[in-house]
Formats: sequence, C-alpha cells, structure tokens
Amino acid sequence: MTDEGRPTLHLAAHFPGVSSTTAQNSSTSGSHIDFGTFEHLARTAERGLFDFFFLAEGLRLREHKGLIHDLDVTGRPESITLLNALAAVTDRLGLAATVNVSFNEPYELARRLSSLDHLSGGRAGWNVVTAADAFTGENFRHGSCPDRVDRYTRAAEFVATARELWDSWTPDGRARPVARAGRHFAVEGEFTVPRSPQGHPVVIQTGDSDEGREFAAAFADVAFTRHGDPKAGRAFYRDVKARLAAYGREPDDLKIMPGVTFVLGDSDEEAQERATAVRREQVSPQRAILVLEQVWGRDLSSYDPDGPLPEIDPDPEAVLAQAGAGAGDPCRTATRWRELSRRKGLSIRQTVIEATSGQSFVGTAGRVAAEMAGYVGSGTADGFLLVPHRTPGGLDEFVDEVVPLLQERGVFRTRYSGTTLRSHLGLTEPVWKG
Ligand SMILES: Cc1cc2nc3c(=O)[nH]c(=O)nc-3n(C[C@H](O)[C@H](O)[C@H](O)COP(=O)(O)O)c2cc1C
Repeated sequence: MTDEGRPTLHLAAHFPGVSSTTAQNSSTSGSHIDFGTFEHLARTAERGLFDFFFLAEGLRLREHKGLIHDLDVTGRPESITLLNALAAVTDRLGLAATVNVSFNEPYELARRLSSLDHLSGGRAGWNVVTAADAFTGENFRHGSCPDRVDRYTRAAEFVATARELWDSWTPDGRARPVARAGRHFAVEGEFTVPRSPQGHPVVIQTGDSDEGREFAAAFADVAFTRHGDPKAGRAFYRDVKARLAAYGREPDDLKIMPGVTFVLGDSDEEAQERATAVRREQVSPQRAILVLEQVWGRDLSSYDPDGPLPEIDPDPEAVLAQAGAGAGDPCRTATRWRELSRRKGLSIRQTVIEATSGQSFVGTAGRVAAEMAGYVGSGTADGFLLVPHRTPGGLDEFVDEVVPLLQERGVFRTRYSGTTLRSHLGLTEPVWKG
C-alpha cells in the first residue's frame, strides 16, 4: 500500500546480465565486476524507493562455437557475497539473489540466506531456479544434473527443507533439532543461524511451465514473468493467481512482476528514436550474426550483417551455443524471419533487431508513468522488474523522472514505511511453525 493506503506498484531493479538487453559495449557502460557498478545501481534503486535489487545467476560462462561467448557478459561475482556487501551501503532496499537448487544443498544455502537476512536487517530475497542442463551441470558433481522431470519436485523439497530450518529456532532464541529424511535431502541436527528478522527470506520464482506456475502458487512470494504486454500479462496473472487457493493462499500472497525494459525521451518521438538507437547498440553487427548462428546452428561468419538472410536452411541437429541458444523449432523461426525480411526489405541485422524483443515502455516520463499506473489494480501485474539496458547508470533517469510522476499519481510510495523486504511487498511475516 502507499502511504495513503491505496494499492501500490512494486518496483524491483534487475542488474542486467547475460542477454541481448545488455548494451555492454555502450560508451556509458561500466564494469560488470567492480563493486562500484553494483553499488551505483543499488543506491539508485534505493533513492527511488524500490522494493528490491535483483541479481540473476549463471553457473558457467556461456559458449558459442566451443569458445567463450565474449559478446555476452563474461564473469560476475557470486550473488550472496555481493548482496552482503551491498547491505552495508544501503539501508532499506531489499536484496534478492538467484540461487540454483539443482546444484546446492538446503542446509548450506538456508544458512547463507538467513545470514544475509540478519546482516541486512530483514532484506533478503531468494529467486529459486532449477536449471538442469548438462552444460551447467558439468561444473558440478560428476558432471551430472538432475533429471528434468524431477527438477520441480527437488525444488519443492529444497524450499520446504529450508523453511523447516528457518523455523527450527524458536522466536525466543532456542535452537531445536531438525530431523528430516526426504527423497532428495536428509537433515539431522540443529541449524546454526537463529531465526532471522523476516522469519523466512522472501521466495521468488521465475518458471513459466505448468510445473513452474504451480510451484509459484505453492511456494513463492513473488513471481517474475516474461509476459510484459498487457494481454499476455493478464492471462498469466489470472492463471497463476487462480492456482493459489488450492494451497490455502490468498491472491495477494503472491506478487506478480513482469521483467520489462524502458526508454525515455523529452517527447514520444524522441523516445522512439532513442529506442531504435538502443536496439542498434544491443544488436551490434557481430551479435546479429551470432544470434543467426544460434538459430541456424551453422557457422555463418562469412555472411554480411547488412546483407540478406542465408538461403541455406538451419541444421536442427546442431548445437553451436550452450546456455542461451534460441528456443523453439529453428526451421520455423527461419521461415518466419525470412518472411519478415522479404516483406519489409530487411538485412540480417535489421531482421534480428525486429524479430527479437523490443522495449516494453517507450515514451516521455509522463507516458511511461501513466502506462505503468494503468497496470495497478487492473489484474495485469502487481509491479515490474525493471531491466535497464546499461550499467551502472541505466536507472538514473527512471528514478529522477518517472518515480516522482508515479508518486503524484498515488500509485507509488513516497517513503519506506517498513524496514524489511516483506513489509515493502505488503507480505505478512510467516507464522512460526514450532
Ligand atoms: C525474469 C526472469 C529471470 C530469470 N533469471 C534466471 C537466472 O538468473 N538464472 C537461471 O538459471 N534462470 C533464470 N530464469 C529462468 C527460470 O528460472 C526457469 O529456469 C525458466 O523460466 C524455465 O523454467 P520453466 O521450465 O518452468 O519455464 C529467469 C526467468 C525469468 C522469467
């Protein structure tokens, strides 16, 4: 709720990472490893009274044609370590890390998350991801990875175990033993960390499959989604919120926040021009060929990015890229892209720019604030995960220009009324299950 008790928009800041939204070669982009870059973005998000700052995670450097995919971000610090450092330079901002449940153990991870919750005074969040691809798994035990079918049952047991550990200390500070022998995990003994300020760190979920949505309904406090446009957003929102009742939960117990981008300008025309310029920054000539190679599964380095699409068909059997390759049937994608290119007379680079996603909110600060406010209370989203296209300054304009207009409209807070991430999100503290 806002200070006046009206529904509020929730805002989170994504530190942009591996994806073509990141214009990492822009002259205004900084390092993706220096603490100062993270600090600037987090402090800006806190200045803008955002609910939380969010870090994605990748557990192996992406590759393309057997080499490090160096058009992508290569190398980033471990998230919880980084968030502990950010806790020291921020006061109220929630701090959420993506941490994979396929390659961790609940006792150890629950300990690290609970420690972050203590050190930050109740601001920890955990995005539970389940990536179970063999490429990532090769960095872990015996090069293995869990069975794909099993990944959400393991995730469910993981979160349940973590919550049992977080509940194992009584609110008056006594450790009680946990004895749990599940299918995936066995825990016997006391947890090392006393109950944390939020009771349980906030749990986030991002999966879109049926199992992912069910997991969100059963376990999550926040769900991120890629359904940023109003029509798809409403369908996702309705579907996931309707699943909560089966778990004895209210629709408001889960906040749905699509990941979105934005480009601002002094006029709508200027914003459109800037959006086009940003897309060209995001899809350089080299990246255009790389995206094409990911779809075609072939070496296309001899093709001119300003020339036509290849006549040659994709090789559906080939895997040129790991972790990050385009999804879907490559032949159907190629047919769609050729049709688009013919119809509009587009080069390879122009086709990739047009066919891969554009910007979600483009316009003056007034237009963007009005469009975002339209989502509040309309059953489309509870807020947004903002994905700036550059670091570290990618949120500055939004906080300076859009946030005051959202506040004027009465859909965004003018001060933090609580100290914990749960309180920013309007979530109740979990009841202690002794
Ligand atoms: C906004 C957003 C952020 C995500 N961030 C990560 C991430 O940092 N690391 C990761 O391994 N997967 C990430 N994912 C992928 C999901 O966790 C999930 O693995 C993927 O959506 C496939 O799950 P599904 O089969 O249930 O759709 C993200 C997804 C979304 C929508």
